[in-house]
Amino acid sequence: MKFQFPELPYALNALDACIDAQTMDLHYNKHHRKYYEKFMEAIEHTNTQGIETLEKLFSNISKYEPAIKNNGGGLYNHSFFWNSMTPNYRDCIGPLKTAIEKKWKTIESFEKKFTETATDLFASGWVWLILDEKQELQIIQTHNHENPLMDVCPTKGSPLLVLDVWEHAYYLRYKNERPGFIQAWWKVVNWKHAEDKYADLHR
Ligand SMILES: [Fe+2]
Repeated sequence: MKFQFPELPYALNALDACIDAQTMDLHYNKHHRKYYEKFMEAIEHTNTQGIETLEKLFSNISKYEPAIKNNGGGLYNHSFFWNSMTPNYRDCIGPLKTAIEKKWKTIESFEKKFTETATDLFASGWVWLILDEKQELQIIQTHNHENPLMDVCPTKGSPLLVLDVWEHAYYLRYKNERPGFIQAWWKVVNWKHAEDKYADLHR
């Protein structure tokens, strides 16, 4: 397997409407990089022959040691999180907007439900918009570095959008006020990335 540490798709200060540059620097250059390095260490002495992608690895993650799940999840989830944000916000459009409105009536009520799910998540984890195995949109929580591609996740599916609610994602600016972070996050959501992921699942 060959895995790369991904480039951040914008400058460290580009998301200042939600995330300050110092937090982004620590989060990307320290936390995310450490998960990547520890993942590479963990797979060095593990037989992963024939497994070329993290997605394939996650589908059988329960067969591997916890360090592979924890750090591989940290690698994948953060990469997805960076792509779930943009300095050039625009509203959700197209088939994904239609699907969200079918399920939650309006984008605003979807955002309210997602915000509640993120606010209520106990301790460290992630909140996802996914297309589940029955082709239904769902908002789910995962704990630690689990994700909906992992066989250990109770609700599996394809990720469309994710929010990191570990304290390291917001503590410097927002302290213990996670709701303030989540409220600001909606100003930097990358709907195009979510729309593209949704379209990929319908080709
Ligand atoms: Fe994080």
